[in-house]
Amino acid sequence: MLDLIIRNARLAGGSEERVDIGCKLGKIVELGARINEKAEREYDAKGYLVSPPFVDSHFHMDSALSYGRPRINRSGTLLEGIELWREAKPHLTSDDIKKRALQLCHWAIAKGNLAIRSHVDICDPSLVAVETLLDVAKEMKPYIDLQLVAFPQDGFYRDPNAEQLLIRALDKGVHVVGGIPHFERTMHDGSLSITRLCEIAAERGLMVDMHCDESDDPMSRHVEMLARETTRLGLQGRVAGSHLTSMHSMDDYYVSKLIPLMCEAELHVIPNPLINITLQGRHDSYPKRRGMTRVKELMAAGLNVACGHDCVMDPWYSLGSHDMLEVAVMGLHVGQMTGQSEMLDMYRSVTFNGAKALGLENYGLEVGCNADFVILQAKNEVEALRLRPARLRVFRRGISISETPEHIPSLTLDGKNVPINFTLD
Ligand code: FE2
Repeated sequence: MLDLIIRNARLAGGSEERVDIGCKLGKIVELGARINEKAEREYDAKGYLVSPPFVDSHFHMDSALSYGRPRINRSGTLLEGIELWREAKPHLTSDDIKKRALQLCHWAIAKGNLAIRSHVDICDPSLVAVETLLDVAKEMKPYIDLQLVAFPQDGFYRDPNAEQLLIRALDKGVHVVGGIPHFERTMHDGSLSITRLCEIAAERGLMVDMHCDESDDPMSRHVEMLARETTRLGLQGRVAGSHLTSMHSMDDYYVSKLIPLMCEAELHVIPNPLINITLQGRHDSYPKRRGMTRVKELMAAGLNVACGHDCVMDPWYSLGSHDMLEVAVMGLHVGQMTGQSEMLDMYRSVTFNGAKALGLENYGLEVGCNADFVILQAKNEVEALRLRPARLRVFRRGISISETPEHIPSLTLDGKNVPINFTLD
């Protein structure tokens, strides 16, 4: 007997046909037009979309939900955000970080996000955020995968203590090596930081995810160096470049050389559309650059592009509810990716591609995959992007862990109740 059957599902990435999904011991064990077996629990998906869970490939859990502390970012710029965070950091306590992180995780789960890669600032001698978020990751493991990146926010070389703090964070169990080469004092220091951080990752068999070229500087060259060091150290497929906003401003000739180097290194590319569109181009009058990396071209070259939310209500961004559909929608607008297949590509950027960037195992909607999925009140991925609909149920290892009622608004016209259907039948 099966533990769970989802009936009448339309699968993300699949055809329009309805299928049943059979699950046992936390895995998908059967997929078919009609499963005749019985199960302990059955849910009727009513022809709605069943998607693998959303994945946020780039986030900052330690600062999430701290909006207004110690004061509001008046300019809205990246640099004022960094300054505010520096002021707020000495006052962080474990209780406060944990409370905010758990609340964010709850929001994420309710939106169908069951994996988050979060950078955690290690430029703090107490490493309180590191210890607290490792604790949160353990506590929330039955519900959500929280992968942590050791992130030297104040600069790996600008902060003289960063290297030993980063090593301590990795020793405590932080999963990924981070960096911020464009924030070092010079391009040369940035390059040196990439080399050292990639060597640390290679020595320890870890993945790398660096904030890289997060500027409007067309001459920023750190992703080139990241690709070079990835290949030199044999880290292909284990390294991600986050943001890469300077690629938006680079000249096309240089990019024609750069993208093949990135392909050679099998880099993962992690844009953050909500944040990139608001923080970049701030020094421009008009025309204003959009500041998002070249998603369409990078995808066309075969690179894995996985989008992140980056911030929710923190010194850098005052909005957000941790809805990865909002991220994908912003990304497809900014990148002018409104073709049908391009919209599906953007949906994949917050699902399958994210799972690949994070190295998640048994992710997907095939037999043998974890029974992790979300039922959305939409018929297909494009409709999900258009409506950002209710996540009716979220399953983790075959167990329902979140529920949102089906939402059908209605009008009263001539005294009659008229339900509103936002789809075109
Ligand atoms: Fe970030």
